[in-house]
Amino acid sequence: MQFTEKESKTKSSSEAGGADAPQVWRNGKLMSADEARVSPFDHGILVGDGVFETLNAYKGEPFAAARHFVRMKHSASKLGLHLPDEQELLEAMRAVMKANGFDDRARIRVTITGGLSPLGSDRGTAEHTMLVAASAVPSYKEVGRVITVPFTRNENSALAGVKSISYGENVIALKMAKKQGADEAIFANNAGMLCEGTGSNIFVVIDGQLITPTLASGCLAGVTRSVVLDVCGELGIEVLQKDLPLGDLGKAQEAFLSGSLREVQGIASVDGVDLPVAPGPITSKIRQGFKGFVERHDDPSVEGFRFD
Ligand SMILES: Cc1ncc(COP(=O)(O)O)c(C=O)c1O
Repeated sequence: MQFTEKESKTKSSSEAGGADAPQVWRNGKLMSADEARVSPFDHGILVGDGVFETLNAYKGEPFAAARHFVRMKHSASKLGLHLPDEQELLEAMRAVMKANGFDDRARIRVTITGGLSPLGSDRGTAEHTMLVAASAVPSYKEVGRVITVPFTRNENSALAGVKSISYGENVIALKMAKKQGADEAIFANNAGMLCEGTGSNIFVVIDGQLITPTLASGCLAGVTRSVVLDVCGELGIEVLQKDLPLGDLGKAQEAFLSGSLREVQGIASVDGVDLPVAPGPITSKIRQGFKGFVERHDDPSVEGFRFD
């Protein structure tokens, strides 16, 4: 199994609980990653038929597991996939963290695919493939640079708002960003409105007003986006959910990204042009508020966490 250079330096597989290869969960059983082979006939590999979640664990507990579970249920129901029950999934995540020696922070990845299938779009009738893996959390700077990309999110796609494993466009966009020395790529949607990043939601401050694109823009209903909305409620910061032309991003007084692993990250520049301040005062307040929120709630309620 290959890790990114940073991840392998942070925690090599031999450090991870002393096992030769990381331990993963596959269809109800803990096993070594070497043993947990996925068939070349798996529909996830063949056509990207699957859904996933990435969670951040703090103090050894997956954060906001209930929100991640309902979002995965939403994604799975769009694709007609079934999920194991919530408790089983939670136990699997805890078992994988423990087996790999992660007792505080961890990046947890849950993947469910259509399982063994014919070599085309038709899904087979075999059981789904369910995998849970964990690794170290990559480190993110307090602020990052973004570029905008020329291809768009399709807000009318059958996969809009679905966390499907078909992430090819994100791979291309992120590669473009890295090539230009940036950390994240930002998409507009087909209507030319600001949408989201490859692995993040976006917030901008314009004329003193904090704004984030609506879910109708085609962005993912980010769990961190929902937590930022909660944090802003606690801090008395009004957030407008409103769609803006992509070009407004470069005119923002300040802006930030939200995501499970990057948490709240200020945006320093857009397409090579610096924003006036990064992190801005509102971003810093929310970053601080987010840290406090995570300390106080390990599993915030799913009430009000919406997908449309
Ligand atoms: C396309 C996309 N948008 C937004 C996000 C942020 O979602 P969350 O806050 O649930 O991690 C992600 C997460 O990876 C993502 O892949």
